[in-house]
Amino acid sequence: MRRSRLLIGVLTCLVLALGLTACGKGSSESNTENSTEQTVNTTTESSTESTSKVTETEQKETAGSEEETSSATESETSNPESRKDTLVVVFSATGTTKSIAEKIAKYTDADYYEITAAIPYSDEDRDWTNSDSRCTKEQNDTSVRPEISSEKISLDGYTTIYIGYPIWFGQEPRIMDTFVESYNFDGITMIPFCTSGSSGIGSSGKNLAANAGSGNWVDGKRFAGNATEEEIKEWVDSMGNQMLLKINGTEVPVIWESNDSIKELKGIADGGLTIEMSMYGGFEQVGPIGKSIISNDEQTTTSPGDIVLYSGNQIVIFYGSNSWAYTRLGKIDLSEEELRNLLSNGDVTITLTLH
Ligand SMILES: Cc1cc2nc3c(=O)[nH]c(=O)nc-3n(C[C@H](O)[C@H](O)[C@H](O)COP(=O)(O)O)c2cc1C
Repeated sequence: MRRSRLLIGVLTCLVLALGLTACGKGSSESNTENSTEQTVNTTTESSTESTSKVTETEQKETAGSEEETSSATESETSNPESRKDTLVVVFSATGTTKSIAEKIAKYTDADYYEITAAIPYSDEDRDWTNSDSRCTKEQNDTSVRPEISSEKISLDGYTTIYIGYPIWFGQEPRIMDTFVESYNFDGITMIPFCTSGSSGIGSSGKNLAANAGSGNWVDGKRFAGNATEEEIKEWVDSMGNQMLLKINGTEVPVIWESNDSIKELKGIADGGLTIEMSMYGGFEQVGPIGKSIISNDEQTTTSPGDIVLYSGNQIVIFYGSNSWAYTRLGKIDLSEEELRNLLSNGDVTITLTLH
């Protein structure tokens, strides 16, 4: 199978070389750039099948990084019956984020999907020192949505999606916005990760959550390009058991903080926690956890959707605003109107569970 693809690739290159007197890009490109180019070709060749599984065998077969790249992106017929519950999605212009994504997919035994740009990003496109380069212009215009060439996938059956990208000018590449706006992530835990030269993940994960408008988005993580497998595994382990919030039985998308209070709350939510809330002050619902948990109160002015810990033992969910000393727990990613509909029409019951 791999041999025949290789043969097709070689023949394709020969035809292109004869017909167009050019095959591939200039020799000045780095190895990683070449492997990205190869990825684009592979995906285009088998454009109807862009979900692949990073199987143990494939991983064992891989030796050099270029080989690893082509192996992990080699598309295979997606058999719905062998679907995993976790999917790793990645966009990577020069292979750095991709190598992290492959490690996550391998460790979590996940399906793998690569976002490729219909117009690949060339060296010139990615020149961040040039105010006229494609990337600079795209990143300066939050409305740009570069076209994706990889085939759309069905998200049926996935409960967790790791979603990775490089940081471009402190933000997610606009093509990530194209991706999240093309899918409905209801009921799926969305876990962003990124690589960068030095910048943190910043607000990129929250931007993606806002643009997606669905899914339970958690705080993401930035990796250095040379992150070790141990570091990646440790992070993946810490991502297990995401907390799900239901208000009167309706699941709501929440971006949870990553702090000690949340860690302890997760311990209580394991097995299910039901809290009878009371409407209070025309701006919040408040209810008892049943015990005190670790708090780190700070003077806070809340906004609609904020979930906070009050007095160490009560959860407060806001559909309006208040100023007090609270410990932030998370934020419901719904509009103020949606929050008011859910929370301002009488006392509610909330449940917290792990999944
Ligand atoms: C257009 C552009 C803008 C970038 N902006 C930043 C930035 O703001 N901060 C940073 O630390 N790195 C920045 N980088 C570096 C990339 O985030 C970094 O090289 C990343 O690991 C590349 O991932 P990839 O190989 O998966 O594309 C930028 C790179 C490009 C091409």
